[in-house]
Amino acid sequence: MAEDPLLRPMYPEEDLGPAEERLVLFLMQYWGGPTTYSDNRGHPRLRMRHVPFKVDRAAHDAWLKHMRDAVDELGLSEEHEATLWKYLTYAAASMINSPD
Ligand code: HEM
Repeated sequence: MAEDPLLRPMYPEEDLGPAEERLVLFLMQYWGGPTTYSDNRGHPRLRMRHVPFKVDRAAHDAWLKHMRDAVDELGLSEEHEATLWKYLTYAAASMINSPD
């Protein structure tokens, strides 16, 4: 993400650390972990939170590419990998808010 010419300018903060933490905490919560994300940020309402950003097909593809690389680094079992990837592709498609 940090070096992506399309996505990097979308992230408002100089430091990507807090954005990374929000994503990590959200995913932890989504998969049944601690509710730290909502304790800090309230209800996720992710589509609404992405409205300020232009999420078109190109942004969607770029975001998913980085997630694909990240998932590949995890060495998950086939079942876990398939479950996680299905969720991420579904969620990414639902975040698109701008036509091509
Ligand atoms: C489809 C392409 C996507 C793009 C281009 C995108 C881009 C962004 C941007 C620019 C932000 C603001 C950075 C920040 O947190 O300050 C953000 C926030 C966030 N995104 Fe995405 N995103 C995408 C998909 C997703 C998906 C699929 C998920 C969940 C599975 C997700 C989860 C989040 C979360 C949890 C935040 C922080 C929300 C908050 O608490 O303010 N994003 N995203």
